[in-house]
Amino acid sequence: IITPVILCGGSGTRLWPRSRAAKPKPFLPLVGADTLFAATVLRCADAAHFAPPVVVAGARHLEHIEAQMPVAGGEIIVEPQARNTAAAIALAALRLPADAIMLVCPSDHHIADGAAFTSAALAAAQLAAQDWLVSFGIEAKSPETGFGYLRRGEGIGAGPDGAVLGARVAQFVEKPDLARAEQFLASGDYAWNGGIFAFRAGFFLSELERHRPAIAAAAREAAAKGRAELAGKVRLFHPDAAAFARIESESVDYAVMENTDRAAMVPADMGWSDIGNWEALHAARLLGSGLADAAGNHVSGPAELVDCRNVLVDSDGPRVNVIGLENVMIVVDGDDILVTTAAGAQKVGKLQGAANQ
Ligand code: GDD
Ligand code: MG
Repeated sequence: IITPVILCGGSGTRLWPRSRAAKPKPFLPLVGADTLFAATVLRCADAAHFAPPVVVAGARHLEHIEAQMPVAGGEIIVEPQARNTAAAIALAALRLPADAIMLVCPSDHHIADGAAFTSAALAAAQLAAQDWLVSFGIEAKSPETGFGYLRRGEGIGAGPDGAVLGARVAQFVEKPDLARAEQFLASGDYAWNGGIFAFRAGFFLSELERHRPAIAAAAREAAAKGRAELAGKVRLFHPDAAAFARIESESVDYAVMENTDRAAMVPADMGWSDIGNWEALHAARLLGSGLADAAGNHVSGPAELVDCRNVLVDSDGPRVNVIGLENVMIVVDGDDILVTTAAGAQKVGKLQGAANQ
């Protein structure tokens, strides 16, 4: 049995104006009817394989989590402030028995193929039980500099039928510069780190202790002095605020995955997207709707498109009328209208509206 650990922290400014500080990316129905958060929980809801989830989230998002939580049971760890993923995962590990297998899932990704996700999770869990720190490896398709890269090593962990479950990670490189990312892509030896991890809780903590003793110690204190509370049907856990504030803010990728010699990966071909911007969201929506429009247009809300190709329209009210455009994204949210090219989609976070939301 695997315990899902759902991380809700990021802001998603590149999906402004739909994603805003008060209701960021995980809590929006960006692809399909479910919000990304609800879809993430539901992906791990089959009781044959999964225990109820542990959600780790900032206090300011609690309201959305309680409103959108699609399953009963589990626990919500309420962070007094954001201290990045090493801290968030450490707190979850400290709330679980040492032998629990945790599956760490970002709450802001889209995964088209749920069955492929589950089989990767089951393989990863078997490796995690053998004290590997397991990443989901996604086939690298472009020299993205916002991802971690995993260099494939030798096959490991024979499953029940003797099949190889995954591979050792010979090298984990978090967010390389463009030159290195291009080199990794060209070599064919690297996968993207999907940001989904399987760990045995006790082994994760011992590796954190080894590589970042100060983070481990402060997290231990925050958990030991924390307070559990039953609020309606959900159990909340409040880590001690003073100890939590002392945890250095560092991602699990830099703190642990780059340093451990027990990193492993399972290949995961599951229609994964981290929907990092409107262009990626456009692609995920087209994929989700089948080949809805041969011209590559996707419309949510009232709109009329004439002679358009590869245009995304997403409007929460006003009717958007477009003639003769290609490769453009148009988003209407309240008083804000965003019009951008695919290249511009990377820079949306730099707009004043997105920065001051
Ligand atoms: N609870 C909590 N607290 N969650 C957090 C915090 C925090 O302080 N900081 C980040 N998160 C959540 C985010 O909401 C997201 O779901 C996940 O943890 C990963 O954080 P990101 O900030 O989105 O990381 P990233 O996208 O830059 O990089 C990671 O993901 C990539 C794949 O999308 C890394 O693991 C990369 O190696 C990986 O390629
Ligand atoms: Mg991310």
